[in-house]
Amino acid sequence: MLSKTMQDAINEQIKNELYSAYLYLSMSAHFDEKNLPGFAKWLRVQFEEEQGHALKFYDYIIERGGRVALQAIPQPPSEWASDLAAFQQVLQHEQHVTALIHKLYETALAEKDYAAQFMLQWFINEQVEEEKNASEIVAQLELIEARGTAVLMLDHRLGKRGGED
Ligand code: FEO
Repeated sequence: MLSKTMQDAINEQIKNELYSAYLYLSMSAHFDEKNLPGFAKWLRVQFEEEQGHALKFYDYIIERGGRVALQAIPQPPSEWASDLAAFQQVLQHEQHVTALIHKLYETALAEKDYAAQFMLQWFINEQVEEEKNASEIVAQLELIEARGTAVLMLDHRLGKRGGED
Protein backbone atom coordinates (compact mmCIF):
# COMPACT_ATOMS: atom_id res chain seq x y z
CA MET A 1 0.00 0.00 0.00
CA LEU A 2 1.18 3.46 -0.90
CA SER A 3 1.85 5.71 2.11
CA LYS A 4 0.12 9.08 2.20
CA THR A 5 3.52 10.83 2.11
CA MET A 6 4.60 8.90 -0.99
CA GLN A 7 1.24 9.38 -2.68
CA ASP A 8 1.29 13.14 -2.07
CA ALA A 9 4.85 13.40 -3.40
CA ILE A 10 3.97 11.46 -6.58
CA ASN A 11 0.81 13.52 -7.13
CA GLU A 12 3.00 16.62 -6.91
CA GLN A 13 5.35 15.12 -9.50
CA ILE A 14 2.44 14.46 -11.91
CA LYS A 15 1.85 18.21 -11.83
CA ASN A 16 5.58 18.91 -12.34
CA GLU A 17 5.72 16.63 -15.39
CA LEU A 18 2.58 18.23 -16.84
CA TYR A 19 4.13 21.65 -16.27
CA SER A 20 7.20 20.44 -18.21
CA ALA A 21 4.87 19.37 -21.03
CA TYR A 22 3.13 22.76 -20.95
CA LEU A 23 6.46 24.64 -20.96
CA TYR A 24 7.74 22.72 -23.99
CA LEU A 25 4.46 23.10 -25.88
CA SER A 26 4.66 26.85 -25.28
CA MET A 27 8.23 26.85 -26.62
CA SER A 28 7.12 24.78 -29.60
CA ALA A 29 4.48 27.39 -30.48
CA HIS A 30 7.14 30.11 -30.09
CA PHE A 31 9.47 28.42 -32.58
CA ASP A 32 6.66 27.72 -35.07
CA GLU A 33 5.88 31.43 -34.91
CA LYS A 34 9.58 32.17 -35.60
CA ASN A 35 9.55 29.89 -38.69
CA LEU A 36 11.84 27.28 -37.14
CA PRO A 37 9.70 24.13 -37.58
CA GLY A 38 12.58 21.78 -36.69
CA PHE A 39 13.01 23.40 -33.27
CA ALA A 40 9.22 23.38 -32.88
CA LYS A 41 9.03 19.68 -33.72
CA TRP A 42 11.77 18.72 -31.24
CA LEU A 43 9.88 20.56 -28.50
CA ARG A 44 6.55 19.07 -29.51
CA VAL A 45 8.02 15.57 -29.22
CA GLN A 46 9.39 16.64 -25.83
CA PHE A 47 5.86 17.78 -24.88
CA GLU A 48 4.58 14.30 -25.72
CA GLU A 49 7.39 12.64 -23.73
CA GLU A 50 6.57 14.71 -20.67
CA GLN A 51 2.92 13.68 -20.85
CA GLY A 52 4.18 10.09 -20.93
CA HIS A 53 6.21 10.78 -17.76
CA ALA A 54 3.14 12.20 -16.02
CA LEU A 55 1.12 9.13 -17.02
CA LYS A 56 3.83 6.76 -15.68
CA PHE A 57 3.42 8.36 -12.25
CA TYR A 58 -0.37 8.44 -12.63
CA ASP A 59 -0.52 4.73 -13.52
CA TYR A 60 1.83 3.88 -10.67
CA ILE A 61 -0.52 5.45 -8.10
CA ILE A 62 -3.45 3.52 -9.58
CA GLU A 63 -1.49 0.22 -9.67
CA ARG A 64 -0.65 0.63 -5.97
CA GLY A 65 -4.30 1.22 -5.07
CA GLY A 66 -3.75 4.91 -4.35
CA ARG A 67 -5.65 8.04 -5.25
CA VAL A 68 -4.68 10.37 -8.08
CA ALA A 69 -5.32 14.03 -7.17
CA LEU A 70 -4.56 16.35 -10.09
CA GLN A 71 -3.27 19.83 -9.23
CA ALA A 72 -3.38 23.17 -11.03
CA ILE A 73 -0.64 23.61 -13.65
CA PRO A 74 1.07 27.04 -13.58
CA GLN A 75 1.07 29.16 -16.74
CA PRO A 76 4.35 28.76 -18.67
CA PRO A 77 6.25 31.68 -20.24
CA SER A 78 5.53 32.36 -23.90
CA GLU A 79 8.45 34.55 -25.02
CA TRP A 80 12.21 34.04 -25.06
CA ALA A 81 14.86 36.61 -25.88
CA SER A 82 16.82 34.25 -28.18
CA ASP A 83 16.99 30.64 -29.38
CA LEU A 84 19.85 30.13 -26.93
CA ALA A 85 17.84 31.59 -24.03
CA ALA A 86 14.99 29.16 -24.75
CA PHE A 87 17.27 26.11 -24.73
CA GLN A 88 19.15 27.35 -21.68
CA GLN A 89 15.76 27.29 -19.98
CA VAL A 90 15.17 23.72 -21.21
CA LEU A 91 18.49 22.69 -19.65
CA GLN A 92 17.86 24.54 -16.36
CA HIS A 93 14.38 23.06 -16.20
CA GLU A 94 15.67 19.52 -16.72
CA GLN A 95 18.30 20.05 -14.00
CA HIS A 96 15.48 21.19 -11.72
CA VAL A 97 13.42 18.09 -12.61
CA THR A 98 16.44 15.87 -11.87
CA ALA A 99 16.62 17.42 -8.38
CA LEU A 100 12.87 16.77 -7.91
CA ILE A 101 13.26 13.12 -8.95
CA HIS A 102 16.18 12.68 -6.55
CA LYS A 103 14.07 14.18 -3.77
CA LEU A 104 11.27 11.74 -4.59
CA TYR A 105 13.78 8.89 -4.38
CA GLU A 106 14.90 10.12 -0.97
CA THR A 107 11.24 10.11 0.13
CA ALA A 108 10.89 6.52 -1.16
CA LEU A 109 14.00 5.56 0.86
CA ALA A 110 12.67 7.23 4.01
CA GLU A 111 9.26 5.54 3.54
CA LYS A 112 10.96 2.15 2.88
CA ASP A 113 8.90 1.97 -0.33
CA TYR A 114 10.97 -0.49 -2.38
CA ALA A 115 8.53 -0.62 -5.32
CA ALA A 116 8.65 3.20 -5.65
CA GLN A 117 12.47 3.10 -5.50
CA PHE A 118 12.49 0.60 -8.39
CA MET A 119 10.00 2.69 -10.43
CA LEU A 120 12.02 5.86 -9.81
CA GLN A 121 15.23 4.31 -11.12
CA TRP A 122 13.74 4.56 -14.63
CA PHE A 123 13.32 8.30 -14.09
CA ILE A 124 16.84 8.72 -12.67
CA ASN A 125 18.26 7.21 -15.90
CA GLU A 126 15.85 9.20 -18.06
CA GLN A 127 17.05 12.46 -16.48
CA VAL A 128 20.66 11.67 -17.46
CA GLU A 129 19.46 11.47 -21.08
CA GLU A 130 17.24 14.57 -20.79
CA GLU A 131 20.09 16.71 -19.43
CA LYS A 132 22.53 15.38 -22.04
CA ASN A 133 20.18 16.17 -24.94
CA ALA A 134 19.50 19.70 -23.69
CA SER A 135 23.22 20.37 -22.96
CA GLU A 136 24.18 19.34 -26.51
CA ILE A 137 21.69 21.77 -28.06
CA VAL A 138 22.80 24.61 -25.74
CA ALA A 139 26.47 23.92 -26.60
CA GLN A 140 25.73 23.96 -30.35
CA LEU A 141 23.76 27.21 -30.11
CA GLU A 142 26.64 28.74 -28.12
CA LEU A 143 29.06 27.63 -30.83
CA ILE A 144 26.88 29.17 -33.53
CA GLU A 145 26.79 32.46 -31.59
CA ALA A 146 30.55 32.45 -31.04
CA ARG A 147 31.85 31.04 -34.33
CA GLY A 148 29.01 30.90 -36.88
CA THR A 149 27.54 27.84 -38.56
CA ALA A 150 30.55 26.98 -40.78
CA VAL A 151 32.42 25.34 -37.90
CA LEU A 152 29.45 23.02 -37.26
CA MET A 153 29.35 22.02 -40.93
CA LEU A 154 33.08 21.28 -40.87
CA ASP A 155 32.67 19.32 -37.62
CA HIS A 156 29.89 17.29 -39.26
CA ARG A 157 32.15 16.52 -42.26
CA LEU A 158 35.13 15.54 -40.05
CA GLY A 159 32.85 13.35 -37.93
CA LYS A 160 32.02 11.23 -40.99
CA ARG A 161 35.58 9.88 -41.28
CA GLY A 162 35.70 6.09 -41.00
CA GLY A 163 38.31 4.18 -38.93
CA GLU A 164 40.16 2.83 -42.00
CA ASP A 165 40.82 6.20 -43.73
FE1 FEO B 1 10.00 14.47 -17.37
FE2 FEO B 1 12.03 16.13 -19.05
O1 FEO B 1 11.68 15.10 -17.56
